[in-house]
Amino acid sequence: MERSIRSDPNIHKFSIHPFKRFNKRSVEYKQPVEITSFSYDENHQLHMDDRELRYYYPPNLKDCNLSAGYENFIQKIVEGPEPIHSLLDALIHLRKTRAETENVIKADIISWRGIFTKMLCTPYNRNEPWEFGATLYNNTIFIEEHETEYTRRNREGDTPKAKLMGYWGYKFEALSTIGVPATEIQSSDDPELLARKNTVVNTNIQYCSVSKTTLGKNRLIMGAEVDCLIDVKPPYPENPVNKYIELKTSKIPRNDRDTFVFERYKLIKFWAQSFLIGIPKIIVGFRDDDGNLCSLKEIKTLEIPRMVRGKDKMWDAVICLNFLNEFFEWLREVIKIEDANSSYVISFKEPFQEIEVSFCHNKNPVLADRHLKPFGKV
Ligand code: A3P
Ligand code: MG
Ligand code: MG
Repeated sequence: MERSIRSDPNIHKFSIHPFKRFNKRSVEYKQPVEITSFSYDENHQLHMDDRELRYYYPPNLKDCNLSAGYENFIQKIVEGPEPIHSLLDALIHLRKTRAETENVIKADIISWRGIFTKMLCTPYNRNEPWEFGATLYNNTIFIEEHETEYTRRNREGDTPKAKLMGYWGYKFEALSTIGVPATEIQSSDDPELLARKNTVVNTNIQYCSVSKTTLGKNRLIMGAEVDCLIDVKPPYPENPVNKYIELKTSKIPRNDRDTFVFERYKLIKFWAQSFLIGIPKIIVGFRDDDGNLCSLKEIKTLEIPRMVRGKDKMWDAVICLNFLNEFFEWLREVIKIEDANSSYVISFKEPFQEIEVSFCHNKNPVLADRHLKPFGKV
């Protein structure tokens, strides 16, 4: 008997194919402007200030084992993806404290930068499933990440070695930053520099920048954890995003295969993460297999697309941006039900061909009750 395959009208699908349709003149992405910032302290308590902002100071490569202090590592109290709540609290705080900011917290899509990064890399993603939840409220789509089996395994590390390697990235940040501007450092034995070696790595601590921008006609607000500032003395610049630095660790490439993996899988994420909030420079700490930091390389974010352009089996930043723009346009068409108690599930999974969107009545609302009035119609 022939069975008819009828597609479910409640499930919407956006195919990443044909790829060709994104290969055209790039959509405009405006320079992001920071609208506010906030911090989480060592207990993951939220503060509407920049108390956890750090400054870049090159690490001492002569004494740089990234495994040091692993036994004292303090991991974030809240497990799983960060809800969007603190970002929304920061936006509400901004509007309360700055009278002229009535409209600044309006956008078409509000989310964490990490979510936008995953979306932006989707055309070239063939093995990392993601799932997000979205609530439409007062013409804004609020998006947060859902914990899945895949993200849980990835976050915790499958093996003791993977867990240790997860620590290396944070340790590199601890060894490369100080609490005062670099201009205040007088000598190489300055206590600020010496203290870094013994810093207990605590991932509860974060400094977050919130910026606003537009991709084509899509107005976006995103919150992002930022590693540090460079070449800045207080008072801070009006729009500090072009003084922020992203710190990254990576394995030293030893052969063509390593270089290919670095350019194909790592550089796309480095670029997407920093480009989205306008961070101009990434400092990569190259390490060996035992976690010894061996060299540093500065990479300009805007130069990354050119570094990989035309190479076999690589990626193209223009395709990523055009894809994201058209995906957002489509998302704003299909996410129509405005219900603060419900959410849509947006997912990308095996066989990594299309993004699926479905409505979940009375499930996993993204906004908390306290956000409804401030983000509601005035
Ligand atoms: P690396 O990116 O150098 O590996 P970020 O660089 O985005 O600020 O993140 C800091 C560090 O957090 C990362 O350093 C890595 O160690 C860890 N980290 C971030 N996201 C992760 C993830 N999805 N899985 C495992 N570790 C992660
Ligand atoms: Mg970071
Ligand atoms: Mg970093």
